[in-house]
Amino acid sequence: MLIRNGIAVLASGPVRLDIRTRDESVIELAENLIPEPDEQVIEAEGLLVLPGFIDSHVHFRDPGGPHKEDFFSGTRAALAGGVTTVLDMPNTQPATDTREHLYEKAALLASKAVVDYGLYFGATDTNIEEAASLANEVAAMKLYMGSSTGSLLVTEFSPIYRHFKTFPLDKPLVVHAEDEQSLKYFGALGSQDHNQSRPPLSAQIALSRALAIAEKTGRVLHVAHTTTEREIELILEARQKGVRVTFEVTPLHLFLNEEDQHRLGNFGKVNPPLRSVSDQTALWRNFAAIDTIGTDHAPHTRAEKEQPYAQAPSGIPGVQTLLPLLFNATIEGKVTLAEIIQRCVVNPARIFGLKRKGALEVGKDADIVLIDPRQAYEITDQQMLSKCGWTPFAGTQVSGKIQQVFVRGVLAYAHDTCLAQPGSGKPVSYEAR
Ligand code: DOR
Ligand code: ZN
Repeated sequence: MLIRNGIAVLASGPVRLDIRTRDESVIELAENLIPEPDEQVIEAEGLLVLPGFIDSHVHFRDPGGPHKEDFFSGTRAALAGGVTTVLDMPNTQPATDTREHLYEKAALLASKAVVDYGLYFGATDTNIEEAASLANEVAAMKLYMGSSTGSLLVTEFSPIYRHFKTFPLDKPLVVHAEDEQSLKYFGALGSQDHNQSRPPLSAQIALSRALAIAEKTGRVLHVAHTTTEREIELILEARQKGVRVTFEVTPLHLFLNEEDQHRLGNFGKVNPPLRSVSDQTALWRNFAAIDTIGTDHAPHTRAEKEQPYAQAPSGIPGVQTLLPLLFNATIEGKVTLAEIIQRCVVNPARIFGLKRKGALEVGKDADIVLIDPRQAYEITDQQMLSKCGWTPFAGTQVSGKIQQVFVRGVLAYAHDTCLAQPGSGKPVSYEAR
């Protein structure tokens, strides 16, 4: 296949280049490529040609939560949003916390995926050796230092330290850094304001602990959903000392703040919470330091969200709006396309060792998104393919409409229609570490 006359967005930025793919891979990137006899030609004049995005933080609820998402609906939402690889979190039911649960989950998902995927393994108090023995079969290990949706939680020093020491040191250990004891204390004060019942202090305490243990053990650490200025200061200071730490920010915390949570009610309830305007601004000010942007796509039904504050589950969907919001931010001049590609394609592939992903580059998978930068539209709940059927960004005007999406060289989505068959998405392969 030849995609010609478009603007290819490489890791270094946009260039006028044609792209040739064969089987599943990109085989040539050059100016003015001539179609071969019988070659399929995609005319991309006026379009931007991006590498498919990697969302390294989704919760697709399979197994255990099919009323709010399953792996087919979740990966379709990803595809419609130009995300061609997802890494799925372990807080399913049962949790992905034993070899058996991991294998059962992998078998269950294989026939449902329409984009490529990897799975996280979830840390518990007791699965230290088992987690380490499975490291090459998962994207990373996730360790919840504070409780959130689901039952995964590790708060005691001993299992945290042993996980940090035992899980292969070069393989990412991803922390949900909110401190359980302080969450209990602030939660009991009864505020309905989520940023007060799970305040920045809880994040600061847990992160300080994780960084100290990462420093001592010499392991790589990836911090999920960093939300505050103080956390960024701690991470940058640790990096200066040589701690091998990278961090993620979500579009939720980039584009929304606690005032939106007051407006949205429980539909803006997420862990960690939407923060103050000043913390939100700090994320943009430190954009250069951010390693990955992952969505924390965490669908819950409207009925679940409409319960009283204390009962309503935390979590907000986002996999389908990641690329549209960030692409629009490039049109608004907030960031460059190259900066977005670094954080949504290049860095996630490098951090999680996704061998065949990571850029529009010869030899990589032909995961490709064609966008018309001039076409503007409004984000609506109705467009959302997640089973939850809502987005906090409904009503937002964006520029840049996704026209076509290819997964490993196959047209999977075109002009608002998913063409991919369930089971066409494949497990990713990892660099050995
Ligand atoms: O708000 C959240 N929702 N934070 C998490 O850590 C988990 C997620 C979910 O799975 O619903
Ligand atoms: Zn999450």
